[in-house]
Amino acid sequence: MTYEELMDKAIEVSKYSYSPYSKFAVGACLETEDGSIYTGCNFENSSYGLSICAERNAIGSAIAEGKRKIKAIAIYSPNQDNCAPCGACRQVLHEFCEEDSKLDVILKNKNELKIYTLAQLLPESFSL
Ligand code: THU
Repeated sequence: MTYEELMDKAIEVSKYSYSPYSKFAVGACLETEDGSIYTGCNFENSSYGLSICAERNAIGSAIAEGKRKIKAIAIYSPNQDNCAPCGACRQVLHEFCEEDSKLDVILKNKNELKIYTLAQLLPESFSL
C-alpha cells in the first residue's frame, strides 16, 4: 500500500474513535512485512487511565493474527496537525519493528505527509 493509502485508512478509522472524555480522536493504520493491513482507533474509559491509544489498538490486532514485524504506520487526528505517537506507543512499536528501528511513521498536516523513522522518534531505545 502507498503511504497515502495507509493515511486514508487512518483517517477513515479515526471516525470510529470513542473519545467522549478528551474529545481527541485518533486513527492508525499499519502495514506488516507481508503486506497485511491493520487499523485501530483510540477508545477511552470513565476510568481515564484505561484508555487505549489508536496505535496500540492496531498493533494488538496485528499481534492477534501472528504478525510481529511492522513496516510502517500512519497516524491521524482531526484535532491536531502532525499528530505524533505518544511515548508509550513509540516503545510498543519498537518491540515489533524491523532491525534498527527501521519503521516509517507517517503523519499528516493539512497539505502533506511527514515521514519519520522510529529511530528518529525514539533514539537510544530500550530493549532487552
Ligand atoms: N492518543 C492516541 O490514540 N494516540 C497517541 O499517540 C496520543 C494519544 C489518544 C489517547 C486519548 O484517548 C486521547 O488521544 C487524548 O490523549
